Amino acid sequence: MFKYKVDDRLYLAQLETGHAEELFQLTVRNREHLGEWLPFAHATHRVEDTLAYLESCRVRHEAQDGLSAGIWREGQLVGTIGLHDYNRDNRRVEIGYWLSEDCCGQGIMTRACRVLINYVFSDLEFNRVQIKAAVGNLPSRAIPERLGFTQEGTLRDYSFLNGHYVDMAVYGMLRREWTKGVYNGRTASGTQEGKVI
Ligand SMILES: CC(C)(COP(=O)(O)OP(=O)(O)OC[C@H]1O[C@@H](n2cnc3c(N)ncnc32)[C@H](O)[C@@H]1OP(=O)(O)O)[C@@H](O)C(=O)NCCC(=O)NCCS
Repeated sequence: MFKYKVDDRLYLAQLETGHAEELFQLTVRNREHLGEWLPFAHATHRVEDTLAYLESCRVRHEAQDGLSAGIWREGQLVGTIGLHDYNRDNRRVEIGYWLSEDCCGQGIMTRACRVLINYVFSDLEFNRVQIKAAVGNLPSRAIPERLGFTQEGTLRDYSFLNGHYVDMAVYGMLRREWTKGVYNGRTASGTQEGKVI
């Protein structure tokens, strides 16, 4: 099972159906914060909706066709991060994420992404990681930019969000860029990231 340490307070672990209540409550508390960019937040009304999502994640985990992980800080679920659009033939995958509003602004997601990207390149041995973010979603775009991704283009009218079309910025990172870059799996404090726990 996927479970990776980010630092002494933070870890990522595969989401399971047993997390439904915790994830549902977190989604409800953050409905407005998430709903601006992630339509699922407005479509989540009952714990059964979250359970159905986690059940679909279980199927994908079993098929090794994606990953949905929770981000836990000191034992509390504070967000999610995942891999989707698995393409084994071409060894590429896309990362998606969200964080509870009260945990934003602390670098949690940037560090979680760094651990997951190390996993994609080192453990899965994929060649390319992609992140897409709505052009107006500056906090989300800042993550690949902070991590040294290249903005490769803009997909026009790519998503229909809250009644209007939005353009998406596409960012890519290649394995050879990541491994030769400054992102060598160490936190600013020098502790090893990404250790399996
Ligand atoms: C996208 C989202 C996860 C970004 O969250 P975030 O808190 O800005 O991202 P991080 O956790 O990486 O934190 C970065 C912030 O912490 C600061 N920070 C503090 N310590 C840091 C560290 N060690 N490393 C990096 N950043 C650090 C950064 O300066 C930045 O702050 P700033 O925005 O004031 O410049 C969040 O806004 C969110 O969940 N939004 C709603 C859902 C969403 O849009 N999902 C993405 C859809 S594409």
